[in-house]
Amino acid sequence: MAKIVITGNGPLKGQLTVHGAKNAALPHLAASILAQEPVQFSNMPRVADIETMCTLLEAMGLGCERSGSAIEVLAKPITSHVAPYELVKMMRASILVLGPLLARLGKAQVALPGGCAIGARPVDLHLKGLEAMGAEISLEHGYIDARCSRLQGADIYFEKVSVTGTENLMMAATLAEGTTHLRNAAREPEVVDLAELLTKMGAKIEGAGSDHILIHGVSGLSGCAHEVIPDRIEAGTYICAAAMTRGHLRVQRCRPDHLEAFLDTLNRMGVPFETGADWVEVLPHQGLKAVDVQTHPHPGFPTDIQAQLMALATQAEGRSFITENIFENRFMHAVELQRMGAKIKLEGKHAIVSGPTQLSGAEVRATDLRASACLLVAALCAEGQTIIEDIHHLDRGYEAIDQQLKQAGAIIERQVD
Ligand code: UD1
Repeated sequence: MAKIVITGNGPLKGQLTVHGAKNAALPHLAASILAQEPVQFSNMPRVADIETMCTLLEAMGLGCERSGSAIEVLAKPITSHVAPYELVKMMRASILVLGPLLARLGKAQVALPGGCAIGARPVDLHLKGLEAMGAEISLEHGYIDARCSRLQGADIYFEKVSVTGTENLMMAATLAEGTTHLRNAAREPEVVDLAELLTKMGAKIEGAGSDHILIHGVSGLSGCAHEVIPDRIEAGTYICAAAMTRGHLRVQRCRPDHLEAFLDTLNRMGVPFETGADWVEVLPHQGLKAVDVQTHPHPGFPTDIQAQLMALATQAEGRSFITENIFENRFMHAVELQRMGAKIKLEGKHAIVSGPTQLSGAEVRATDLRASACLLVAALCAEGQTIIEDIHHLDRGYEAIDQQLKQAGAIIERQVD
């Protein structure tokens, strides 16, 4: 089992470059199922989840040719409509192949993702939407079995904002007959990037980035070339790491306009920074102030940076109130932070963090992707050595994060037993 060993030391310095967004790249790869021609992607992050999605596409007969951060999905005949449990259990986002398979082949069998460390995470809204478009769906032996002739345009309202739900239905609707309305749709930058990709492939989509997306179905989609947007969560993680160490760090090739709620929170905490079109430069701070922050769908504060922000809040003067509104069990990192000396009180969906606290290095266990990132950020300013176990979670979504932080001056080492 691999682990990461970090010795807390001085400020991070220099510059780091952000990779392509995992949460954009995953639906993009799934969207290539819809195309009758090859689709070429650049700026794909080299992380385990992308490898899992490529394996899934290959299991369906499609070819994925990788070259550095480029992936070309070859338009071979689709020979299987099944997403097997061994892949879905590794990555819940495998559900993203459901809409495209159904739209392209009229049939799909996708293992039902179970709950995960951060919550129950049902997919009922994906299924209801596809049923409204005419699919017949049954659950058998742990698999979603979906069938249709041609999907029909429909008017669909999401009771809850769902990112992959919006993406799945948007992809399915591109090949449906007639117009589909997605209401209370997710507005995340990854949804907008997917709409841009699909539009290049020949889809007719209006309103992406708003809560009402219209998709006018077409009869087929072609190939194209597309560059994946930068990962706003990776950028946010580096920014937290810089502020945690009173560092001076320039985070390059990111999109500050995708990070508005997060940057506003940092501003309220007293972190000085400057921004340009594609960079954020964090300047050394003179002490942090406690903050109230609530997670919400975009453009609200992202749940995927809540854990890293909690690490930072341990260094702020006063009591910070952090409310997690998206997932019901997303404070697993708080318990590990407490083992490092953090003063955190959990009350339902609220965490009250009192600071500042000198954290002390400890052996800690990462329970999910962003919890791992939180512990890494905390370890950078802890006294002594921190050993983070179960770092396969980290490798699912961060490309060479240990190398990146080392380049900025962190004392960090990956060990394999
Ligand atoms: C995506 C992101 C994940 C992020 C999350 C919220 C990807 C691959 N993953 O996950 O990193 O943390 O958005 O920003 O993009 N829900 C239902 N029924 C459904 C679907 C969702 O009740 O059918 C609930 C979920 O349990 C959760 C909320 O809606 O409470 C939002 O979940 P959703 O936006 O769907 O998360 P994902 O798309 O799985």
